[in-house]
Amino acid sequence: MSVATAQVQEDGRFLCRQVQPAWPVSDLRADLAHGFERSPRMLPPKYFYDDYGSQLFERICETPEYYPARAESALLAAHAAEIMGEVAPAHLIELGSGSSRKTRHLLRAAEALDVMPTYWPFDVCREMLERSGRELVEEFPRLQVRALAGDYLGGLAHLPQAAGRQLFVFLGGTIGNFSEQEADRFLRDLRARLRPGDYLLLGADRVKDVAMLEAAYDDAAGVTAAFNLNVLNVVNRELQADFDLAGFRHRAVFNRAEARIEMYLLAQRRQRVTIEALQRCYEFAPGEAILTEISRKFTPESLSAMLGRAGFVIERHLEGGERLFSLVLAKPLR
Ligand code: SAH
Ligand code: TRP
Repeated sequence: MSVATAQVQEDGRFLCRQVQPAWPVSDLRADLAHGFERSPRMLPPKYFYDDYGSQLFERICETPEYYPARAESALLAAHAAEIMGEVAPAHLIELGSGSSRKTRHLLRAAEALDVMPTYWPFDVCREMLERSGRELVEEFPRLQVRALAGDYLGGLAHLPQAAGRQLFVFLGGTIGNFSEQEADRFLRDLRARLRPGDYLLLGADRVKDVAMLEAAYDDAAGVTAAFNLNVLNVVNRELQADFDLAGFRHRAVFNRAEARIEMYLLAQRRQRVTIEALQRCYEFAPGEAILTEISRKFTPESLSAMLGRAGFVIERHLEGGERLFSLVLAKPLR
């Protein structure tokens, strides 16, 4: 086991440790300095998920417009028993686990089948890991939770690897938040962690009607707008900046050519922002955009091509009657 661990929490069946990156990951200071030189200005999405941002994301999942959460949850509810029956993993490792809300379908099925795995939720948001991990051990009396706090962009080579079959789970359509190149690299890195008999369960959102897509990223109650704007609070706090949140507006557009939702923060007026930690000012012209996230949407073909490039073969492709969302069970191609 090649884990650089700092064991910080032990409480019976819940344990949380830090996973060190296999290669250096950039921090907010470097990402902002670099991303703000580009046109449009850019911020990577991992900074959304401070404690407040993670809670806002949970609320996005409850908005009537955000269909991916419900569609994926329905697929998991309907197929958890057959997936857990077939895979019967000793270890369930979830990347970007968040609140583990949807994973409960898998854990419930495993409990009923008496094949309860050890659960390894891996996330950059430590508060969320602590909260949901403790809830899970309460809810599942036979479950061991080994939470892993870290940045998956630093690679997966330092994830613990114990004996027994592994099921990797990557839900929420989060794979779509990577560019094609980043997704290919990430999936190849993941593929390298799989041993014969291991599986990947991947959720990916589908190309569909533009109005439905755009509404999912711009709900009427404004939760997504608050989530997007919160990244400016993170920058203010972490880098002693003075972004005025009232000076920016949330916007989500579907870029059909790229098959992706693009999320922006638009400057509402001319403004100057000072970032003390960088000892720099940035001027924003009225209407100027910061690209804060992309969310790529897939077809069955683009999804299977992406998995193929990384050395996976799809064993089962679940999509439900409306084909709003895909859940694929894949294994190493050999
Ligand atoms: N899987 C959950 C949450 C999806 S939101 C669901 O489907 O509802 C994306 C999650 O990935 C968040 O919990 C966020 O904290 C985590 N995340 C984002 N970037 C990350 C990174 N670089 N490393 C680790 N976790 C990350
Ligand atoms: N993985 C989610 C998605 O692409 C993340 C997400 C949903 C998101 N809504 C958002 C990110 C709004 C930023 C803003 O669907």
